[in-house]
Amino acid sequence: MAFDQKIRSYEVQGHEVPEPEMIKTPAQIEGMRKAGILNTAVLDYVSEHVREGMTTQEIDDLVREYTVAHGGICAPYGYEGYPKSVCTSINNVVCHGIPSKDRVLKSGDIVNIDVTTILDGYYADASRMFLIGNVSEEARRLVEVTKECLELAVKEVKPWGFLGDIGAVIDEHARKNGYSVVIDIGGHGTGIQFHEEPYVCHVGERGTDMLLVPGMTFTIEPMINEGGYEVYIDEEDGWTVYTEDGSLSAQWEYTLAVTEEGVEILTY
Ligand code: MF3
Ligand code: CO
Ligand code: CO
Repeated sequence: MAFDQKIRSYEVQGHEVPEPEMIKTPAQIEGMRKAGILNTAVLDYVSEHVREGMTTQEIDDLVREYTVAHGGICAPYGYEGYPKSVCTSINNVVCHGIPSKDRVLKSGDIVNIDVTTILDGYYADASRMFLIGNVSEEARRLVEVTKECLELAVKEVKPWGFLGDIGAVIDEHARKNGYSVVIDIGGHGTGIQFHEEPYVCHVGERGTDMLLVPGMTFTIEPMINEGGYEVYIDEEDGWTVYTEDGSLSAQWEYTLAVTEEGVEILTY
């Protein structure tokens, strides 16, 4: 098969190439597309309801109720012991913030809501930022530039490109704006399981790392810090990731498929 030979030719040139199980069938991608449509609907539903004065537990309730009512399952719940249905990461929380009835959204907060839906066995994973009340100009700019990092990265996704192209453009755009890119956590293959190979690093070098091939499905989910790139995990809950220096962090995430023509965004 010409396709396999082409991959093999990159491999003999010394490039890292995807394993066969990283390449989805059209039927699998169709399953992910449907999961993506529901995942987008969940995020749209949350967008309509998120407001100052609400607790992050109420966001968890909205996500769970809407997902279940539409035949889906919230992937985070019970995943490696994660206790809730969604991640809500506020201000200096980089990711994996746990919803709580004690955390009320207040004016000035920036919050990432990260939704992962399973529908008929297929996964879709996406997150958006929300601005609560009066948000500082600096925080708005961080949120905006982080979105730009994701959109620029999507433009790099094409067959016979490389994962390193994605990290390169994200790091370049973040640095140009005075920000840093989190490297301890990254994007990931997804679709049949929550987290699959490959690891999608948000820093990189063009033309390096794994070859991109039609049928690969993965997330891009840059976490961009106002200050340093260093992070730490909350020792008490084992999940919440904070910026080491207490600076703000923002994140946006899509699930994508590499197509023959370029890229298909499966979630928004
Ligand atoms: N949705 C996150 C991601 O983008 C993973 C959350 S894992 C959880 O990969 F257990 F915290 F939900
Ligand atoms: Co993800
Ligand atoms: Co996610």
